[in-house]
Amino acid sequence: PRRLAPPEPPAGSPAHPDHPAHAAHPDRGPFRNAPDSDPALPGTRTRAATLVDGATDARLLANLPAATYVLSADDVDQVVERATAAGAAWAAAAPDVRAVVLRDAANRLEDLRGDLVATAVHEAGKTVAEADPEVSEAVDFARYYALSAEALEDDPDATFEPDGVTLVTPPWNFPVAIPCGSVLAALAAGSAVVVKPSHVTPRCTQVAMSAVRGALVAAGFDADTVQVALALEGELGRALVTHDGVGRIILTGSIDTARTFARWRPEVDVLAETSGKNAIVVTPSADVDLAVTDVVRSAFGHAGQKCSAASLLILVGSAGTDDRLRRQLADAVTSLAVGWPTDLGTVVGPLTTPAEGKLWRALTTLEEGESWLVEPRPLDVPPAGLGEGRCRLWTPGVRSGVRPGSWFHLTEVFGPVLGVVRVPTLDDAIDVQNAVAFGLTAGLHSLDEAEIAHWKERVEAGNLYVNRHTTGAIVQRQPFGGWKESVVGPGAKAGGPHYVAQLGRWHDAEDVP
Ligand code: ALA
Repeated sequence: PRRLAPPEPPAGSPAHPDHPAHAAHPDRGPFRNAPDSDPALPGTRTRAATLVDGATDARLLANLPAATYVLSADDVDQVVERATAAGAAWAAAAPDVRAVVLRDAANRLEDLRGDLVATAVHEAGKTVAEADPEVSEAVDFARYYALSAEALEDDPDATFEPDGVTLVTPPWNFPVAIPCGSVLAALAAGSAVVVKPSHVTPRCTQVAMSAVRGALVAAGFDADTVQVALALEGELGRALVTHDGVGRIILTGSIDTARTFARWRPEVDVLAETSGKNAIVVTPSADVDLAVTDVVRSAFGHAGQKCSAASLLILVGSAGTDDRLRRQLADAVTSLAVGWPTDLGTVVGPLTTPAEGKLWRALTTLEEGESWLVEPRPLDVPPAGLGEGRCRLWTPGVRSGVRPGSWFHLTEVFGPVLGVVRVPTLDDAIDVQNAVAFGLTAGLHSLDEAEIAHWKERVEAGNLYVNRHTTGAIVQRQPFGGWKESVVGPGAKAGGPHYVAQLGRWHDAEDVP
């Protein structure tokens, strides 16, 4: 079923954007920390750049906050038991006390901006311009979920009860924003948290959680209310997921992992935001300059390693034979500065890990009827032991002539490859968009109001973007979440008004003693 738009909060309510509670930081308005907004924030770039170039590693290693290496089944028990013990006081705290802690965490995350950016650059290969808005998003999550915690008390007919320890398993592609969002939401709901970062980006989570744990301790709570558990995927990961003390799981990852977790723990809520195979439709009425800019940004930001990234460009009617559009797209893609993120001129950075599997196929093999509008090329020397071309640094590629129903049309490849599909009509384009199993983001470039209305009515995706890039959803303004196989669980969107309220049990007020 099509989801309803979130209700506009009433004027005067703390959830309303004009409420003074939103004005938490003197330099930045509420939720103006938009990902993809102007990255030239005062001081930020210089500080991050200094850290990247300087003694980043020594400084970060010397200051790494507490984390537990989960090396045995006993370690799993201990992590969950410590969280359970620490969680009692947190669950008993009034929601407005939790909100104070979250706002303090927001300010501490802001203070760690340079360290967080440097760590994301170092571990995930993000450019500074991609890493910096992640910190902003994490800060926004903290402030927004503080409001959500307060709102848990607004309903006179029902009371909210947290439900035990939440296990958070975030991905490596947003190694700051997503762990923060999930952990802070669970905290807002009154749960203790065990967060198991991706083994590719553990330090981002550690540094971010030092801010959160600092805020907990400053308010008199036990730091163990949030624990970072460093475990490799496999048996110990499974032991964490299946531990009896874990009452809820928040996962951002593949649909296969989400299904596996749900199968292992049918009795707990598994909330997952999973994959996408997202397309932007361009009709003949579109502003071509804007469309090309937005498509390139959506497809190749963080080298295409975003669940929200555009992987398909669907050209409708004469847009498909428009030489200017084709040339502009090819020029825009070939002129992107590809490089390592320590070079601040880099626009498209490396893959976080070398290209393999589906991405390798997408970068190197065409299907029947396809040709390269821009052929991708590896620029680095592959790490020892990996075959020719298993590189991290790829110039972006554009496949043209992708056929509806083909492998590239239907498969998420998670990297810097865009496929171009040509179709006769807008309805054909929507059919191509809807044919994929996922439904995360979808874009339309059109200046025709009737086309926009028709597309919005028919397209099946969680986040729709008209005449805008399809990445960088903004907390509160564009709550983020999917449809179809892009979501598992109740599916309230992250950064939206219902997210925290789904992370616990509601009881009728008169049932509670
Ligand atoms: N929330 C991220 C975005 O919108 C995934 O790009």
